[in-house]
Amino acid sequence: MLIETFDNEEALASALAERLIDAVTRSPRLVLGLPTGRTPIALYRELRRRTREGRIDWSDVHTFNLDEFVGLGGHDAGSYRAYMQAELFDHIGLDAAHIEMLDGRAADLALECERYERAIAGLGGIDIQVLGIGANGHIGFNEPADGLHARTHVATLLPGTRDANAALFGGDPARVPERALSMGMGTILSARHVVLVATGAEKRDAVAGMVHGLVTPTLPASFLQVHPRVTVMLDRVAAARL
Ligand code: F6R
Repeated sequence: MLIETFDNEEALASALAERLIDAVTRSPRLVLGLPTGRTPIALYRELRRRTREGRIDWSDVHTFNLDEFVGLGGHDAGSYRAYMQAELFDHIGLDAAHIEMLDGRAADLALECERYERAIAGLGGIDIQVLGIGANGHIGFNEPADGLHARTHVATLLPGTRDANAALFGGDPARVPERALSMGMGTILSARHVVLVATGAEKRDAVAGMVHGLVTPTLPASFLQVHPRVTVMLDRVAAARL
């Protein structure tokens, strides 16, 4: 793992945006894995700004998001699809046909998970997977457990995760769906390069466990220790226990 610490989340977002844009410039057909949540807001703001100012061509890039709530589709305000459209997709000129997200309203969720795995494989896999980390050490919605799913699956969200997502649902954790579709650990670990971003004090312990602890399903992000190419980008606060 390569660990990098930045003075603040703006500096981190700026560095990562620059690297992603460099990667797109070098490989216009890049396949990117993307997270939602609070952490990537600054990154997406920076990508929008740089795209506006720099005429970056995203038209051949493909994206796959990590997860989506079960029962929600693009027109639901709390969906990750709606978040992605508002924060990034509506602004940078991606081809809509190149944007892949799990469909939380699919009639057959198991089939939808299989479709997603096939779509990723069909494009030759993910080149760069950007990740956040839950305060409990989850990545995607692979929650701490006795065992983890290798592939895209239906995940049951822990109460803390529903609390952390309440802002998308008018601040009411009870309105956060109990289940989500999520890439599995193997899906994530198959990406050629993983970039995990963490900012803020509530991530300190999870980050320390991920970097220095045992590889354990009770802290799913610890599995990144076995991946050959992981970059961990932290602000000083999230790095405090390293
Ligand atoms: C979101 C996702 C989650 C988040 C994590 C951190 O697509 O897969 O693993 O990255 O819960 O969320 P924030 O950034 O809101 O602290």
